[in-house]
Amino acid sequence: MSERAEEDTVSYEIENRIAWVKFNRPEKRNCMSPKLNRQMLRVLDKLEYDDTVGVLVLTGEGTAWSAGMDLKEYFRETEAQGLAGTRGAQREAYTWWKRLRWFQKPTIAMVNGWCFGGGYGPLYACDLAYAAEDAQFGLSEVNWGILPGGGATKVAFELMPFRKAMYHAMLGENLTGAQAAEEGLVNEALPADKLKARVTEVATKLLEKNPWTLKATKDAMRRVGEMTYENAEDYLIRAQEALNFFDGEARKEGMKQFLDDKTYKPGLGSYDTSKQKS
Ligand code: ACO
Repeated sequence: MSERAEEDTVSYEIENRIAWVKFNRPEKRNCMSPKLNRQMLRVLDKLEYDDTVGVLVLTGEGTAWSAGMDLKEYFRETEAQGLAGTRGAQREAYTWWKRLRWFQKPTIAMVNGWCFGGGYGPLYACDLAYAAEDAQFGLSEVNWGILPGGGATKVAFELMPFRKAMYHAMLGENLTGAQAAEEGLVNEALPADKLKARVTEVATKLLEKNPWTLKATKDAMRRVGEMTYENAEDYLIRAQEALNFFDGEARKEGMKQFLDDKTYKPGLGSYDTSKQKS
């Protein structure tokens, strides 16, 4: 096929407030080229503050989630342009991963197939991750003579037990989706034909919760990792007070529906956000 246009390297559709975003280079196993990286940032820009979107799911067209960085277009061709080419390409990739890490809406990686190297950046950027049991995860960098850069080493260190992460990075052997779930790379692995239903179920539950509360919660979870206990305690007080500023009614409504109306129990589910005064 002729070379895919930049705007076709990512596709998306919005259905019942869930944005299904796809790496869309199945013929190249969705590896990340500079074009794809630029287009993904445009798509994230478009969806982040779109009121018709409450949750974003990142998945892949065809047999891959993403086969990592494009060895030809991301590495070889940009390296040929000198350091400016290399740094420019890194900036484009890292920018959208960072955008995704701190995305306004909850995000879910739905790993349908191959997930290699650079793919660990967006995998970690998503708040939650679900994989097909037969998906394949690999830090294949060692197999072609580089270290797991682009944050991949950090991702393995953050998500996996140390010995497992070290083995994973040094041996360059793949894990199935089921093994990836056991080792902490994803929340859960499911038979491929059940994957979308499970992700839809989780996304739908997220849609029922207060969106400001979710954003504050996911950011807090990422931030506290680098803090001392004292700093985290203080940060969480400030973060809650900032949340009160954005949405002063959430906790009052949550308490009212439990204590006064007796219409729900917080231990068993969310308050009805549709009844909240804005
Ligand atoms: N970079 C560039 N091209 C790629 C990449 C990649 N990461 N992955 C796949 N492709 C291309 C192949 O070169 C091939 O192109 P062609 O049709 O022009 O020959 C096409 O995509 C299809 O790939 P196949 O290898 O034929 O597909 P297959 O299903 O047999 O294998 C697999 C899939 C295992 C994912 C294989 O393509 C592969 O090993 N890809 C590289 C994975 C990898 O190590 N990625 C880099 C990680 S390190 C990092 O990201 C920094």
